[in-house]
Amino acid sequence: MSRVEPVVSVLLDPTHAATSLVEDVRRGLRAHPLRLPPKWLYDDEGSRLFDEITRLPEYYPTRAERAILEEYADEIVAACDATTLVELGSGTSEKTLLLLDAFTRAEQLRRFVPVDVSEGTLRAAAVSLSERYPGLAVEAVVGDFTLHLGRLPRGDRRMIAFLGSTIGNFYVEERGAFLGVLGDSLEPGEWLLLGTDLVKEADRLVAAYDDAAGVTEAFVRNMLRVLNRELGADFDPDGFSYAPMWDGRMERMDLRLRAEMPQQVRIPGAGLDLDLPVGEELHIEISTKFRLEGIAAELDAAGFDVVRTCTDPDGDFAVTLARRR
Ligand SMILES: C[S@@+](CC[C@H](N)C(=O)[O-])C[C@H]1O[C@@H](n2cnc3c(N)ncnc32)[C@H](O)[C@@H]1O
Repeated sequence: MSRVEPVVSVLLDPTHAATSLVEDVRRGLRAHPLRLPPKWLYDDEGSRLFDEITRLPEYYPTRAERAILEEYADEIVAACDATTLVELGSGTSEKTLLLLDAFTRAEQLRRFVPVDVSEGTLRAAAVSLSERYPGLAVEAVVGDFTLHLGRLPRGDRRMIAFLGSTIGNFYVEERGAFLGVLGDSLEPGEWLLLGTDLVKEADRLVAAYDDAAGVTEAFVRNMLRVLNRELGADFDPDGFSYAPMWDGRMERMDLRLRAEMPQQVRIPGAGLDLDLPVGEELHIEISTKFRLEGIAAELDAAGFDVVRTCTDPDGDFAVTLARRR
């Protein structure tokens, strides 16, 4: 079969880094606590580090989600009638191969639409996917899933896959709003496949985000390098310690950087000067952990019926198939 060349559409405008990052930095660093949206972690270096994280011995989520897809991908495909698969925050789409293989066995899929802010990673994935699946239309979208859900391709019956528990990076109020927009962007009868990391013992969670090789720490610190490069800031990444903590009340990992000395930081690109006392924390990313009943309730509130919930043998992770009412 002849290979169909991948198509890559860019929805982020060329001034995205200049305008959207400036707005996020002004909003996040004028508020208290100081907070930055995690999407800015994923420049080329951040995406490379995330890929390394997925292979760390302590980082069980990727292995658990892969085990679920190995076991259940054929059943998931048989349970839905999707002919277009859209993947949000697709990254390398490595685990998604299991789903794409199952769709290929069922001769069901016409089109795959990976969506990611990280352009380099997405372009490389699009090329290798179209080589692996000749005949599948790969229509990659460089875009932001908090801004561009309304501009995803229509037609066909779509399944949106949102894997890797990336949904856990939203704060609770943002998550409800995001799921609502996601529901509104699908037609009745279309599909959502959601990967969620489940609540478990705190020591395993902390170990997963504070790995012995320090890769997660480097990933989180990369945020400061992005701000230095894009906005001419003068953060000294070594002036901060990495402080991952489990927040048992909110049931989330909270990944922060803590100032270890008083720091005056200039961020000329955002017109901001910061005076950080010792102990001041920058909130870089959260990773909320879920319970099965909570997932079902949140999906129900966003207009979805849960059709199937699959977990790995250790009960670490869940993949939920839901249908838009
Ligand atoms: C936690 S990683 C998960 C990657 C992959 N789906 C997996 O399961 O291993 C999050 C991915 O979402 C992308 N991402 C983060 N925020 C985004 C946003 N607002 N819009 C689009 N992609 C985003 C990142 O570039 C990264 O590839």
